[in-house]
Amino acid sequence: MGIDFWDQSNPTNRILLGALGSLTGALVLWLLRLSWVWLKSRNTRLKKLKTEISSLKGELGTLQKRLHGAEKAVEGDGLWLARPLVQPDHYAVLLQQSIPIITVANLKGGVGKTTLTAHLARFYAGIGKRVLAIDLDYQGSLSNLAAQGDVPSSRVSNFVAGEFNGPNINELAWPMENAPGYARILTSYYELARIENQVLVHWLTQREERDARYFLAAALLTQDVQESYDIILIDAAPRITTSTVQALCTSTNVLIPTKLDAVSADAVGYFVEQLFIMEKLWPFLNLAGVVGTMTENNIGALSEASDRRDPMIDFEQDAIFRIQQRLDSTYDAYSKSQPPSLILPHTTFIPGKRDISRLANEQFSEASDVSPANRLVIEAAFDRLGRELANRVNLQI
Ligand SMILES: Nc1ncnc2c1ncn2[C@@H]1O[C@H](COP(=O)(O)OP(=O)(O)OP(=O)(O)O)[C@@H](O)[C@H]1O
Ligand SMILES: [Mg+2]
Repeated sequence: MGIDFWDQSNPTNRILLGALGSLTGALVLWLLRLSWVWLKSRNTRLKKLKTEISSLKGELGTLQKRLHGAEKAVEGDGLWLARPLVQPDHYAVLLQQSIPIITVANLKGGVGKTTLTAHLARFYAGIGKRVLAIDLDYQGSLSNLAAQGDVPSSRVSNFVAGEFNGPNINELAWPMENAPGYARILTSYYELARIENQVLVHWLTQREERDARYFLAAALLTQDVQESYDIILIDAAPRITTSTVQALCTSTNVLIPTKLDAVSADAVGYFVEQLFIMEKLWPFLNLAGVVGTMTENNIGALSEASDRRDPMIDFEQDAIFRIQQRLDSTYDAYSKSQPPSLILPHTTFIPGKRDISRLANEQFSEASDVSPANRLVIEAAFDRLGRELANRVNLQI
């Protein structure tokens, strides 16, 4: 006889069925609980993801805003005014008490900025001043002209990138070739262009929190640099680059060399206008003056002799007149009062002489045939300019 499992009268069956019932119930309960726990954890994860998404959305919004700001700044003409100013601590005081820091600049190329800087550096070193020359044009022209031996890589890049400050300067500054006293140079080379772009992009997209416009100022206004040198001469590129902005932000003075022709005269007006437009970046910058370069003749000396009126001189006199007009209209347009004699005395203008280029590059000149008489004439020209400039920038000589 087989066992009838469904026979409820059998007590064993009842016990077994009861046990089976409870087991099923427990299993269902356990499954329900498992699903609940799973659902709950899914829910928590979902909530977490939602929070992450909303925070990512926020970040995306911020990044879009920054990018938009950067795009607008690049499109407009206020690129360098696009972000609020964060000047170094005690900027005003440090700059007003600074040794002369002179940027030699003009947005027009080929007007003799680099040649002039090299000669002025040698002149000041020659009269016993400790000179620091800084090449801020990635073409490296001043470095090639004036650095001793093989030009090292771009030593100035670290400063432009905001990576070095004052105490490192003497490890990085390179001796100047044939300078008669103490003259060093912070060299530049093509890699500076890459650094400049990097610095600009980081600053514009706010990845750089410090104010990139004042990186060089933060380095040059340190006690260490101020005590190591008597004068700093900066050779700027003929463009408003990251380096040009940094140079103007750290300078006490700007000297504008110009050729004496109509186009160059207009370029002087344009540059001075740019200086005014961005004035809030460099409120303490003074215009040391405008100096004629590559002149056909020594205008001052010749024009004093009234019987000599050669047509070239008239041509240059016209250019001087035009520069003055451009300065007058620019100062008027910005309601500024013009300091007297912004154009330097004509006797300090630098004549156009091939030997001036040769002598700017002392390495070359050693093998060249610059006559002692020419050397003297050229040295005398930079002596006149150097003394006039010293007077204008309060350098005791
Ligand atoms: N007084 C001068 N007499 C004759 N030639 C000069 C004189 N000054 C500069 N030069 C020559 O003119 C050219 C341009 O000079 P320089 O490189 O100094 O100008 P720059 O304004 O620095 O140019 P850039 O804008 O490219 O930096 C060079 O070949 C240089 O040798
Ligand atoms: Mg140059």
